Amino acid sequence: MFRRLEADNTVNLILIGFGNVGQGLAEILRLRGPALKEKHGLDLRVIAIVDRAGAAVSKVGLDLTRALEVKRLLGSVSAIKTVGKPGLSAVEVIEDLDGDIVVEVTSNNLKNGEPGLTHIKRALASGKHVVTTNKGPLTLALPQLLDFAQRRHADLRFSGAVGGAMPILDFAKELLYGDEILSIRGVLNGTTNYILWSMSERHLTMEQAIAEARKLGYAEENISYDIDGLDTASKIVIIANWVMGRRISLRDVDIKGIRGISLEDMLRVKKKGFTIRLIGSISHDEIRVSPEEIPLGDPLSVSSNLNAVMIDCAYSGRHIIIGRGAGGKETASSVMRDIMSIVNSAYLKRNCSRIFLKDYSSWGSPERFYRTEALAL
Ligand SMILES: NC(=O)c1ccc[n+]([C@@H]2O[C@H](COP(=O)([O-])OP(=O)(O)OC[C@H]3O[C@@H](n4cnc5c(N)ncnc54)[C@H](OP(=O)(O)O)[C@@H]3O)[C@@H](O)[C@H]2O)c1
Repeated sequence: MFRRLEADNTVNLILIGFGNVGQGLAEILRLRGPALKEKHGLDLRVIAIVDRAGAAVSKVGLDLTRALEVKRLLGSVSAIKTVGKPGLSAVEVIEDLDGDIVVEVTSNNLKNGEPGLTHIKRALASGKHVVTTNKGPLTLALPQLLDFAQRRHADLRFSGAVGGAMPILDFAKELLYGDEILSIRGVLNGTTNYILWSMSERHLTMEQAIAEARKLGYAEENISYDIDGLDTASKIVIIANWVMGRRISLRDVDIKGIRGISLEDMLRVKKKGFTIRLIGSISHDEIRVSPEEIPLGDPLSVSSNLNAVMIDCAYSGRHIIIGRGAGGKETASSVMRDIMSIVNSAYLKRNCSRIFLKDYSSWGSPERFYRTEALAL
């Protein structure tokens, strides 16, 4: 298992799902791939891409420019000449191909986690690492998936599932090494933030703001996940399980969405110097999602589709992260971070080599760099 990843500089990626995030990752790999190869000798190859209609497969690596073009023009990568395989399923690809890392970025489903849950389980069972941004499987089965991954000696990473491009999960975990987290509170859903901000600042009705959010591609496939608070709740569940070591499910979250908030409500609140935001919060005694009145100018009163998270710690006080919580390329940058992190661990296991890691600090992860240097001594 993982022999190639620990033995040479070629990493075979299998990409399941080719929507906003999948295509964002293909763009990043297309643009940064050559530099990674030239600078670090690292060859990140996408050997398969799967969407609903089928797959494209090439053991020597797919032409990503072509894959993006065919997807845009013909709707499925399975239409690519010679490498296209109409009807080939994700499970067949995951089980039959010799990949190192499966990137699972199919549609979110909070009812039963499918199809992502099966993809992730099959990938781990067949000895592959997994990177995902898919909240359904993580919300419904994170502790079980982590146990399963550990038993298979595989990595399961999901930093893009909460906060899109913002490394909220990793940041909070790092804080825990030296501190105790008392509470986490934040705006975790860019779509509802865009809707509420548009109502407050641009005086749109909720229907107008929803229509705009859909047009801009901010909304989940099922918009009720956003506006009824389920998306925020699923992120709270992932944070609670992963960062705070709780074993909770969606049923444990007290959830209230933004449906029913009118433009008049927004304007009335604004006159008092406040705004309304959908806030997810976890503390020792409560786990909830609810619209809250917060002062204009408060760090959580972020604009447009931004996310903002406040972490209160026993010793180091308050930490605030604000950034882009959604978007195909933004979220794909988190997937890329997770892929590099898996590659980094594999290289470490191999020989604590400085060869690849010597320029790693420029990737924005000094902690890993220092730790690596220490190990390499
Ligand atoms: N976009 C964001 O900003 C963001 C941020 C954080 C997390 N996420 C999560 O990341 C995941 C991907 O998001 P997205 O925006 O890229 O979604 P998307 O644009 O809707 O893309 C979903 C992709 O999954 C494919 N798919 C669905 N069912 C499949 C199946 N059974 N087999 C193979 N492929 C299947 C779809 O195929 P077709 O193309 O053929 O329809 C599509 O390519 C979601 O779970 C989402 O909640 C997204």
